[in-house]
Amino acid sequence: MCGIVGYIGHREAYPIILKGLKRLEYRGYDSAGIALYDGTDIKLSKTKGKVEDLEDKIKKEITTDGTLGIGHTRWATHGVPNDVNSHPHYSNSGNLVIIHNGIIENYEPLKQELESRGYIFHSDTDTEVLVNLIEDIKKNDDIKLGKAVQIALNQVIGAYAIAVFDKSKPNEIVVARLGSPLAIGIGDDEFFIASDASPFIEYTKNAIYLEDEEMAVVRRHRGVSIRKIHDDSLVNPYIQELQLHLEQIEKGGYDHFMLKEIYEQAHAISDTFRGRLLTDKAIIKMGGVEDNMKKFLNADRILIVACGTSWHAGLVAEYIFEDLARIPVEVEYASEFRYRNPVITENDLVIAISQSGETADTLAAIKLAKSRGAFVFGVCNVVGSSIARETHAGAYTHAGPEIGVASTKAFTTQITILTLIALRLARAKGTISSSDYRHHLFELEMIPEKVNQALESDYMVKQIAEVYKNAKNFLYLGRGYNFPVALEGALKLKEISYIHAEGYPAAEMKHGPIALIDEDMPTVVIAPRKGHYDKIVSNIQEIKSRKGVIIGIVTKGDVTVRELADHVIEIPETLDCLSPLLTTIPLQLLSYHIAVMLGKNVDQPRNLAKSVTVE
Ligand code: M6R
Repeated sequence: MCGIVGYIGHREAYPIILKGLKRLEYRGYDSAGIALYDGTDIKLSKTKGKVEDLEDKIKKEITTDGTLGIGHTRWATHGVPNDVNSHPHYSNSGNLVIIHNGIIENYEPLKQELESRGYIFHSDTDTEVLVNLIEDIKKNDDIKLGKAVQIALNQVIGAYAIAVFDKSKPNEIVVARLGSPLAIGIGDDEFFIASDASPFIEYTKNAIYLEDEEMAVVRRHRGVSIRKIHDDSLVNPYIQELQLHLEQIEKGGYDHFMLKEIYEQAHAISDTFRGRLLTDKAIIKMGGVEDNMKKFLNADRILIVACGTSWHAGLVAEYIFEDLARIPVEVEYASEFRYRNPVITENDLVIAISQSGETADTLAAIKLAKSRGAFVFGVCNVVGSSIARETHAGAYTHAGPEIGVASTKAFTTQITILTLIALRLARAKGTISSSDYRHHLFELEMIPEKVNQALESDYMVKQIAEVYKNAKNFLYLGRGYNFPVALEGALKLKEISYIHAEGYPAAEMKHGPIALIDEDMPTVVIAPRKGHYDKIVSNIQEIKSRKGVIIGIVTKGDVTVRELADHVIEIPETLDCLSPLLTTIPLQLLSYHIAVMLGKNVDQPRNLAKSVTVE
């Protein structure tokens, strides 16, 4: 995934683009680059590394005048991340310059064709092929840039959000999207282009989100004209009022976005509840579910597709749907599901879970399920995202922007929404008694307050992190509802501290991983009082008798585990099915503190991008 930014208007473009790239760095941070039109020529600078490296390079390399420009932050797909492969890319003549988020799959034959016509390529990228294809069409047919872009895009296979301009016509930027997001901010005689609205939120609240297969010519003083790439029909622009606020995308006094987002969870869960959880009336109200109740109730099974942390939320949902609503559930990695030949019928109901709503594998799994007649329900955070649009119905988590690459509040709000759905279905099916239902709603409503209590363990977690920060391996164990939390805890540690960690169902330990136990490997055991407590105590004893080190996540007031474990972290008491919303908090904090102590880049871990829009 990459981030793209552009500006055309009456202000200096450089500071807007630079700040925009910093906000979009969550989308990729292998390299960055900017191209500005200074009134006579294009000034371009790009570099391997982060936007701050680019800023340093620009100071030495180019002047930054100009009211038109484009910028890019890259997560490498084609070609290693180096200066040459960084965007923007020039066409051979040096007249056109382009930025691109996505992949041109048929770039090889197009490149060969262009090479046979004398074009020379300096990078290994598919993007340089696209800009030269546009140039070739423009030159041969003597047509305007917009038309040339359209003809070129009709020849490419793949996914893209692009912005391109021509220095001989420096009053317009041409943009297009297919499969990668692109927003156009509409200001007062100025226009902003970006992968999401965060780069322009302080300048305008009005934006157009291009749909797939749409392109736009954005003209200085003249506005935006949109048309369909494939059939050339004109599109009436739909201008949305943005709900995003500047403080949501700033660190707000925290050292890292991840920490801010961990601490935002009580608030985020309350936002997920808003208008849906009506405890006093004993009602759960969710439009997407109510409108499609028959589909939910008549489904032979629910199939959940997702990746990464969202997949872990899906696993928690499997337990809760089966437990409360007695509906059979299967949880699939979207990336595996789409590449086999899964048995899906129109009697299946598919739930796709995705924070970003842009994950390519999840999107492809949805398309596959739809093609086999299944009804697909989306659980997304990002409003208007590709997955939100591709699904038949859905529910937003309303967690607010999640910028840290490691998912935190997305996970807990996904579990929250899936719990609401499971409870609603259980009530409709009569698989839960009225009193139990009310009790669940009451306990659910208490969760935000209890999340804040769980966060009070932060100081203790930090002390534990200090002791084990140099461990080479960690094991995370949990049973039942907390087995997925063990997986999630291990994923968090791996992705931001680069320490090897495994999540395992506690009972499976004796079938293999117990061989790893020694005094050097900490085992984090999730052992809340409700839910297989005695069994997990036995697992802890098995580890202790092999000189293992135990960090226990326990219910407040626990005595038994406290006596056995080397450290315990307490969370408030709740129902077994709601415990993942609390047990996950200390695990997020543990990974955060270890990563900070090891000097790792918490918000932008190596090799990762916030959402993976490539296969
Ligand atoms: O945006 P999505 O929820 O679809 O993203 C899925 C995964 O890529 C994501 O959860 C990833 O595993 C995170 N880095 C985990 O912290």
